[in-house]
Amino acid sequence: MVFRKVRENGFYCFLGGCMATSLYFLSMSYSTTYERQITLHSLQNQEVLRLPNITSDERSIQIKLEQEFTCYNLPDYKFITQRGQYYVIYNFVQADRKFGCTESITLTSPGDYRFLDNVEPLVERWRGPVSIALYCPGYDFYTTMEAIAYVRHCQNSLIKEMVSFHLFFDLEHVPEAKMNISIQYTYNDHYNCSAPPPWEILTDDDTYKTNQSLLYPINVARNIAKLAARTYFVFPSDIELYPTRNFIEQFLVFVKENMNLFGANTRNAFVLPIFEVLENQDVPENKTMLKIMLKNKTAILFHQRMCAVCHKVIDGDKWILQNETKKLEIFSVGKRQGQYMVWEPFFVCTQNEPLWDERLTWEGQRNKMIQAYTMCIMDYNFYVLNNAFLIHKPGIKKEKVQLKRFNKEVTKSNKLSVLITEEIQKLYGRNEYCTMVYNTTLNKPKKKIG
Ligand SMILES: *[C@@H]1O[C@H](CO)[C@@H](O)[C@H](O)[C@H]1NC(C)=O
Ligand SMILES: *[C@@H]1O[C@H](CO)[C@@H](O)[C@H](O)[C@H]1NC(C)=O
Ligand SMILES: *[C@@H]1O[C@H](CO)[C@@H](O)[C@H](O)[C@H]1NC(C)=O
Ligand SMILES: *[C@@H]1O[C@H](CO)[C@@H](O)[C@H](O)[C@H]1NC(C)=O
Ligand SMILES: *[C@@H]1O[C@H](CO)[C@@H](O)[C@H](O)[C@H]1NC(C)=O
Ligand SMILES: *[C@@H]1O[C@H](CO)[C@@H](O)[C@H](O)[C@H]1NC(C)=O
Ligand SMILES: *[C@@H]1O[C@H](CO)[C@@H](O)[C@H](O)[C@H]1NC(C)=O
Ligand SMILES: *[C@@H]1O[C@H](CO)[C@@H](O)[C@H](O)[C@H]1NC(C)=O
Repeated sequence: MVFRKVRENGFYCFLGGCMATSLYFLSMSYSTTYERQITLHSLQNQEVLRLPNITSDERSIQIKLEQEFTCYNLPDYKFITQRGQYYVIYNFVQADRKFGCTESITLTSPGDYRFLDNVEPLVERWRGPVSIALYCPGYDFYTTMEAIAYVRHCQNSLIKEMVSFHLFFDLEHVPEAKMNISIQYTYNDHYNCSAPPPWEILTDDDTYKTNQSLLYPINVARNIAKLAARTYFVFPSDIELYPTRNFIEQFLVFVKENMNLFGANTRNAFVLPIFEVLENQDVPENKTMLKIMLKNKTAILFHQRMCAVCHKVIDGDKWILQNETKKLEIFSVGKRQGQYMVWEPFFVCTQNEPLWDERLTWEGQRNKMIQAYTMCIMDYNFYVLNNAFLIHKPGIKKEKVQLKRFNKEVTKSNKLSVLITEEIQKLYGRNEYCTMVYNTTLNKPKKKIG
């Protein structure tokens, strides 16, 4: 077998390996009283795991939020359902730990097994529930199960505790059952950790997806991952985007202190600015470090060289200048209009916000635009948070592989977007300030962006 990294073909990938992250242990100080009881569900039996007690402050936040928000979740057991052209197995492998509706925030991400090397650095930072939907047609299903077993048993145990995996594949590419056993029961929760993870052994050409020239339905994955989340607040993100530490605790305090922003009929989303760092750099732990790295040019705005306007947050220039503070607060607020008309923000939201259009693929690009456009028409406010941010897995992308390798799909996607725009206008109305393409009539782009 050839041991090499699967990276040539990667979705948003870069050459090079995974960064080293130091292990951090729970640094929150648990002072007194209330006992946190977490139920562990295993196939055979249920047991109760005792974790450190939560503080009275944390408890008072939980009580407040519990009174305000209700979750309407999908079932938390394994089940098969159909979604458009795909079969989905929700909760294929579930996290050991269960969270109450308002106890935490679920980070949700699309993916396939080739990206599971990001789970460990992601979970070490997030330290809360994560919901990942993995595309696994045909025999990729079996490799995916191996990859899941690897991360659960050979990496940080936080993965086993926090991450739930949902699997899906095309109706025409259902995995072959082995030994007459329903494929939903074939997962073997063991891995020989002396063996390397599947993503190091296999190349893109070894995947069923490549063999069958299938497209990656990234928006189906986004929707499955988000819908499967079991907390009120969700953070639809990406497996390769690493958040700042302690975000969950800080955001829940922020919610408690800004309840007016979270009323039933409010249309607000809470944005984390996004940056990338050079390949050999550590991921900055906090805004203070990020500022230093921006200054010495080891960090830049995400996609600065490809589409800076797509990721520039409201008053982004000032955001960079403002020093880190202790508390998570609002930095700026605005609409996806004017110079932000093609912005594709990453934001914390709830199940009330629109999903992603499932006709658009990763290869065709523009797959996040429709959702952002819809939210513009719906007149959403985007609140940019001050100290929190995202860093892409180290390595800076200079061009989009899609434009070269999947030109046909990009053309198709562009045409489709025009049609979808018309549908959206019929559904939600028109707003002349909302667009899908950068329209210089509406706003002359600034000379220097970033
Ligand atoms: C948690 O609180 C209970 C009751 O207040 C106490 O008996 C127990 O020792 C505490 N546990 C820890 C780990 O602090
Ligand atoms: C699968 O089921 C069929 C029909 O019941 C049976 O003939 C066959 O031997 C089974 N195969 C295996 C591997 O158990
Ligand atoms: C685990 O894998 C290693 C290396 O591939 C092998 O030498 C060892 O026998 C395996 N152990 C088990 C229990 O299968
Ligand atoms: C797909 O896999 C089959 C069986 O391994 C092989 O014969 C075929 O050449 C592959 N097709 C492509 C396009 O890679
Ligand atoms: C930011 O991170 C650096 C490096 O990890 C650390 O030394 C520093 O104390 C942190 N600053 C704050 C304000 O947390
Ligand atoms: C930039 O700053 C970071 C953080 O202090 C440091 O690790 C890195 O070596 C610096 N790089 C250069 C080229 O100065
Ligand atoms: C921001 O932090 C830097 C470095 O710690 C300091 O020199 C500067 O005065 C601070 N700026 C403000 C506005 O507080
Ligand atoms: C740009 O916006 C103007 C004013 O709303 C509109 O008339 C024009 O058709 C738009 N151009 C494009 C390319 O969408």
